[in-house]
Amino acid sequence: MTEAILLVGGKGTRLRPLTVRTPKPMVPAAGVPFLAHQLARARAAGVEHVVLATSYLAEVFEPYFGDGSDLGLHLEYVTEVEPLGTGGAIRNVASHLTSGPDEPVLIFNGDILTGLDIRALVDTHTTSGADVSLHLTRVDDPRAFGLVPTDDTGRVTAFLEKPQTPEEIVTDQINAGAYVFRRSVIDSIPHDRPVSVERETFPGLLSDDAHLQGMVDSTYWLDLGTPQAFVRGSADLVTGRAPSPAVPGRRGERLVLEGAGIAADAKLSGGTVVCDGARVGAGARVHGSTVLADAVIADGADVRDSLIGEGAYIGERTLLDGAVIGDGAHIGADNELLEGVRIWCDARIGDGAVRFSSDQ
Ligand code: GTP
Repeated sequence: MTEAILLVGGKGTRLRPLTVRTPKPMVPAAGVPFLAHQLARARAAGVEHVVLATSYLAEVFEPYFGDGSDLGLHLEYVTEVEPLGTGGAIRNVASHLTSGPDEPVLIFNGDILTGLDIRALVDTHTTSGADVSLHLTRVDDPRAFGLVPTDDTGRVTAFLEKPQTPEEIVTDQINAGAYVFRRSVIDSIPHDRPVSVERETFPGLLSDDAHLQGMVDSTYWLDLGTPQAFVRGSADLVTGRAPSPAVPGRRGERLVLEGAGIAADAKLSGGTVVCDGARVGAGARVHGSTVLADAVIADGADVRDSLIGEGAYIGERTLLDGAVIGDGAHIGADNELLEGVRIWCDARIGDGAVRFSSDQ
């Protein structure tokens, strides 16, 4: 049996205001908290015991997932008194692990949507005899990421911070946020202070000649850390581009949860999800978007690639494109909110108050 640690304690600052009231792993993607997809995928790969390393808004996880028996898992929750960073969080849950010193323990960042073959990562770890194995993915533009070059046997040769110049881009392989640790390596992380696994633990292990093995797996991979990525990830789950056993319905252009009300001539497309209690009015169009519980999209509104928070209201004929609307915000009629705009929770914007085009 393999056990796993899920890192779910980050503040999710890049995703604000969605993470003002809800920790990132609990923001619904394709109708269920994002974490539900990760837990279901871990279970499908044979994981039975998961320890959740919580910190920010820690109290909301257990009431939703309980002891995990509904998912066929044994779940435990460990909360940090002060945030300990990714490495400190891993160390902090060590006493809850049941694996022996040489056994493999899976570790996942709580904000990655991926089709990674989890069993293959564990197999790579076991057959290579590594101390730590990392899922690596290839990206077109590696400038925003830490690079992880490997030799021709897959062994990691360096951890390079975000490259500044073209010469520094020595590989397109990046750390994809899923690892297998030999249990004893977890116990060797300092336990009384914050530690970053990416910036401290991995480079430190490498300079101590530990064996770090990379496994490049180029299936679907997306870091849901930003609003644009989160909306895309949710849409990809709805259409089936991204795999998850936890999507509550059939794959397709749209997912409408029970208790949502959609006008007969409203058009939902591009992987749009409309959650429980939300309403979409007559003639409204919603494309590639996430509409959370109890939100209202009024008649004639046009919503594209946007995320509408719980209980938010989008007025008649208002256009949203690449917008994030916080929980409970009220957007009046005839507004135009475009590219990357973030409206805070409970904010109010009057009728016709924000325009990019003329109102004529
Ligand atoms: P940003 O603030 O937007 O960068 O997001 P974040 O706080 O989630 O940070 P980041 O994306 O770098 O974190 C990677 C993973 O580690 C996420 O799953 C976080 O939930 C988790 N994480 C980050 N810091 C901590 C921490 O101090 N404690 C715990 N338990 N988890 C953490």
